[in-house]
Amino acid sequence: MPTILAIETSCDETAVAILQGDELLASEVASQTEHEAYGGVVPEVASRNHLLHAPRLLEKTLGITGLALSEVDAFAATSGPGLASSLMIGASIAKGLALGAGRPYLAVNHLEGHLLSPFFSGSYEIEPNVSLIVSGGHTLLVEVRGINQYRILGRTVDDAAGEAFDKVAKLLGLGYPGGPEIERRAKSGNPARFDFPRSMLDSGDHNFSFSGLKTAVRYRLADLEAERGKPELVDDICASFQRAAVEVLVKKTLRAAAQCRAKLVTISGGVSCNEALRTEMGEACGKAGVRLRTAPPQLCTDNAAMIAFAASLRFRAGFSSKVTQEIDPNLALA
Ligand code: KG4
Ligand code: ZN
Repeated sequence: MPTILAIETSCDETAVAILQGDELLASEVASQTEHEAYGGVVPEVASRNHLLHAPRLLEKTLGITGLALSEVDAFAATSGPGLASSLMIGASIAKGLALGAGRPYLAVNHLEGHLLSPFFSGSYEIEPNVSLIVSGGHTLLVEVRGINQYRILGRTVDDAAGEAFDKVAKLLGLGYPGGPEIERRAKSGNPARFDFPRSMLDSGDHNFSFSGLKTAVRYRLADLEAERGKPELVDDICASFQRAAVEVLVKKTLRAAAQCRAKLVTISGGVSCNEALRTEMGEACGKAGVRLRTAPPQLCTDNAAMIAFAASLRFRAGFSSKVTQEIDPNLALA
């Protein structure tokens, strides 16, 4: 029953979690809203905020659990991919704690955290699966054979799916992050009004492209200048955009699963909070005779519980990292 303390600071969320065996004792996330004014994450602002929030969340999680640092078996942090100046904060704190307590340090790939999160409740056995990671920074299809056995099947060649949601929301004057806003507005919209492109749907590989979809929304908005500002237009664009994005994600994931003869599909990352994606992926998996595993929404967006869980699986499997291991902003999953 190892007790793992994990820190996540790869982008603009500061998070600390403590996992004991399969029980999540504490999981705290501090989101940064300052970036909205700049229209994107400002690395300098993010790292300064991590420095403010991480010690506070550390004290808070230890307070909630009543644990002393000496009772923690290993300290983990996200070591990449992400913003260098943000990754450094969490990794340095975790390394310092590990050295101080004389315990191992575990470096965790942020993408591995997402990819394993659907197994959080209930299973330390990582069943082979085809995994779709869809977040603000990544869109990846991965064949998973077990812990640390990953093969990249495909990825986005331009924007990540979440990035497309965020950029379309910005075009429409909606808030950040755009995904939840688009999902909310799509509920009242007509998904058949605009036939937006399903880029690379039939490309014959497992790659994605979302930048053409975003551009198509921009052109369509320009054509409809007279209607601009009308709530129905925004709702219809959101619904039509979401339908196009979800259709590509679902169809390409199912094709990858069929090619790998996978019996299980998993989805993770911020965009996997999206109800339309969950429902359509569930229906497509049902038709194909494949099971679907998702993580609860609070484990889909960036958090430290998923880092603690991945670290715990690595710890049990005998992996550890040297405290001299550097962060890597471009860390690859495989
Ligand atoms: O995993 P995450 O928190 O951070 C990264 O590692 O990138 O993902 C954030 C992304 C944002 O682009 C956000 O718009 C998107 O996830 N997102 C959603 C929804 N909730 C968050 N996209 C679509 N529908 C949602 N409900
Ligand atoms: Zn993420």
